[in-house]
Amino acid sequence: MRTRYSYVKKPAMPTYIVFIGPPGVGKGTQANILAERTGLPHISSGDLFRENIQGQTELGKLAQTYINRGELVPDDVTIAMIRERLSHPDCARGALMDGFPRTPAQADAFTEMLADFGGKVDLVPCIFAPEAMLVERLSGRWTCRAQGHIFHQVNNPPQKPGVCDIDGSELYQRDDDKIETVRRRIQVYTAQTALLIAYYRQRGLLAEINGGRAIEEVTADLLAILPSRCYAETN
Ligand code: AP5
Ligand code: MG
Repeated sequence: MRTRYSYVKKPAMPTYIVFIGPPGVGKGTQANILAERTGLPHISSGDLFRENIQGQTELGKLAQTYINRGELVPDDVTIAMIRERLSHPDCARGALMDGFPRTPAQADAFTEMLADFGGKVDLVPCIFAPEAMLVERLSGRWTCRAQGHIFHQVNNPPQKPGVCDIDGSELYQRDDDKIETVRRRIQVYTAQTALLIAYYRQRGLLAEINGGRAIEEVTADLLAILPSRCYAETN
């Protein structure tokens, strides 16, 4: 007699993609587009801090003192904030990480945290572009107040100035996009975050992406290297 088996679908292993790159290179722009294409949530540590600043939470008050100077917020509070965010149900399939981890200590903590969530870092696209281009992009950036959608007054203008095409909310210029703060952020990236390039290269996870081209060309390169399970609802 034939035995009949009933199969229970095993949940897919979550996928975590980590975007690295200097300020203004296009991490947020690309993560927003890939979130649309894959359904994975876009987790931006900068956006989480800005939400806390807007909500005047204790974390926001602390973060603001660092962000206004272009310095990194201390690792312990940053790690705790990200762990809390990744525990939400919308991250069950994984996440597109934009701006975290940003130091080797954060990268080690991230590996441990993902083990608790049953996953690991799958891919680290490192986007690069010349410094003059970063400064030009940040000086013309407009960000949506409600959901962080990103525009540029020349490269990617909204249909109506000052209004987000996607959700109709107000567009604003970030306080840390002042030229002197941008210069400091680039220095901090070089001193502290660029260490992650070697860190993830040694682990065979790094993919270098030329961000000095049109938004669509950068997206095409990223789509070509994303693991296929990014697109799957379940395995
Ligand atoms: P965060 O918000 O992460 O800022 P950032 O890393 O400095 O990067 P940006 O958001 O400025 O640039 P982006 O690469 O996302 O570029 P975007 O897509 O917007 O962090 C802010 C601060 O928070 C930090 O300084 C720190 O204080 C704190 N912080 C955050 N994370 C932390 C952590 N883990 N630990 C400690 N502290 C932390 O694009 C820029 C512009 O260019 C836009 O106008 C866009 O339209 C345009 N653009 C994008 N791509 C293209 C293209 N290909 N061609 C032409 N224009 C383009
Ligand atoms: Mg960003």
